[in-house]
Amino acid sequence: MCGIVGYIGTKPVKEILIDGLRELEYRGYDSAGIAVLQNHQFSLFKAVGKLINLEEKAQKFESTGFSVGIGHTRWATHGKPTELNAHPHVGSSSYVVHNGIIENYQELKSKLTAQGSHFISQTDTEVIVHLFEFHLKTASSPFEAFTKTLEELEGAYAILLVTASVNDTIFFAKQGSPMIVGRNQENETLFGSSDAALIGKCHEVIYLEDGHYGIATADKISLYDKNNNQVDLHFTPLSENKLSAQKDGHRFFMEKEIYEQGTVLADTLMGRLRDETVYFEELPPELFDGIHSIKLCACGTSYHAALVATYLLERHAKIQTSVEIASEFRYREPLLSPDTLFVVISQSGETADTLESLKMAKKAGLKTLVICNVDNSSMVRLADASILTRAGIEKGVASTKAFATQVSVLWMLSLHLASERKTLQENEIARQIKLLRTLPSVVVVDNSIHEQLRRLSKRYLHGHGFFFIGRDVFFPLALEGALKLKEISYLHAEGYPSGEMKHGPIALADPELFTIALLPQHKLYDKTKSNVEELSARDSTICSISPLDFDKADDHIRTHFHEDYMLEFFEMMVVLQLLSMEIAVRLGNDVDMPRNLAKSVTVE
Ligand code: G6P
Repeated sequence: MCGIVGYIGTKPVKEILIDGLRELEYRGYDSAGIAVLQNHQFSLFKAVGKLINLEEKAQKFESTGFSVGIGHTRWATHGKPTELNAHPHVGSSSYVVHNGIIENYQELKSKLTAQGSHFISQTDTEVIVHLFEFHLKTASSPFEAFTKTLEELEGAYAILLVTASVNDTIFFAKQGSPMIVGRNQENETLFGSSDAALIGKCHEVIYLEDGHYGIATADKISLYDKNNNQVDLHFTPLSENKLSAQKDGHRFFMEKEIYEQGTVLADTLMGRLRDETVYFEELPPELFDGIHSIKLCACGTSYHAALVATYLLERHAKIQTSVEIASEFRYREPLLSPDTLFVVISQSGETADTLESLKMAKKAGLKTLVICNVDNSSMVRLADASILTRAGIEKGVASTKAFATQVSVLWMLSLHLASERKTLQENEIARQIKLLRTLPSVVVVDNSIHEQLRRLSKRYLHGHGFFFIGRDVFFPLALEGALKLKEISYLHAEGYPSGEMKHGPIALADPELFTIALLPQHKLYDKTKSNVEELSARDSTICSISPLDFDKADDHIRTHFHEDYMLEFFEMMVVLQLLSMEIAVRLGNDVDMPRNLAKSVTVE
């Protein structure tokens, strides 16, 4: 997602900031900017697109001697990727860069506008700098104005703020989004939203914790915790390996992306959950007017997310829902009726078959919606409305966090529609919203389960095939588990509805057939269990995944108890992702770039 850098020192600041931003490029961005403060004067440069555009804009700018600078790469969430919306955002004499989402920005914006602030961007970030300048008028110091600003912000943030009156200072804060401060022997202080931006520039860093905030000058950093107590500075040495920094210390991007699902899901949910309803600011209010059915269309992993949605949309919103594989949809001369909302799901927003299907639906006069991870992608530009999944750039070819965010958006959409159509009781919607709020912690990797999967993966390297089985939403999850395994282990795997095994596939059962059984406590447990027992009776090797004991299993992965099947779904999703990764690792495969596959398939 977005990236932040900051610098206090005497070296050429432009080069240091842009260099740091370049190290964060792998996170994805659509615009960038820097602000430099020197001799109480600011220089500001912003550009849409790649860093090279920013470099061109700032070509003539040179600095000598001491300066303070902040920089940002933006991945659009509130407002289009334009120069005005790019960070740093400016007040009258202060600049801010921010990662995260200020949930109460509308409220703050109205208040500040009434008090005379003039807003020029569509972002949530801009409220921070105006709020700071508002407090600056009455505060005894800029730092006091900064702390008063933080007290009013709700949501998640990593913030760097500079103001002209204190020429040597960066104010910083972290709540929910990462921020790191580093220093070196040359008396320089640097900031980064990931340590990748600081490698080679600092020898030691502090990984700030939630609630941390403070003030930094060239020779002093003062750090405070959420209770406003000053915190001792505990620096840790910084590694010098750039690639491993991009992977946040993980072996593969896929592993990093599995592990960061908690943070990413928090971004997906942010600002969208109210106490009693789900709110999508980006959806035009009339989108669902006259709509009597929904058709979902996608490819690959996104198709599996769409399959999950058919259960949720019909169950919650009581709206007829069908799903199509895009490459089939295109050529089967489908009958389309204008009371159908056509929803495409795509991580990249560029998959050729999905894009063409979207064009077909538009041509047939249907209203269209895209659920996508990439703003400004072809599908986002084409569809009538879009919901961004906010997963950040996904590097592993095998999709993990993109799927998690797609399913969570679709779950939210089903509740949004349920409240519009009054198809669920208010207290049921409120209950599910509470469940959604727990998702970021549900997907946190349990180290003991990961260790167990690492160990048992050695038993699943041969055999003549895998069946992943489940019922209800656990059937598409089984399909996704099988796809993950195929993609990176090159072993044959199929996903199947567990009730369908006896209609043919059970003929394959023998000890060399591996069954990965999804046995959630809260969705058709007994029915699924009987299906697994039928396979066990025919000597298939069973690996069960369930919070409940299952004595017919050869291997049992015990998941946590949850109060609802959807939470079980998300935990089992993580288990399946880790299982396929550990099998692929043992087989010595390239986990991030499996053979024959591409991340984005722009040919049919
Ligand atoms: C490729 C990728 C898959 C992905 C599919 C659809 O096959 O390897 O991981 O699920 O395309 O991509 P999309 O970007 O449309 O979600």
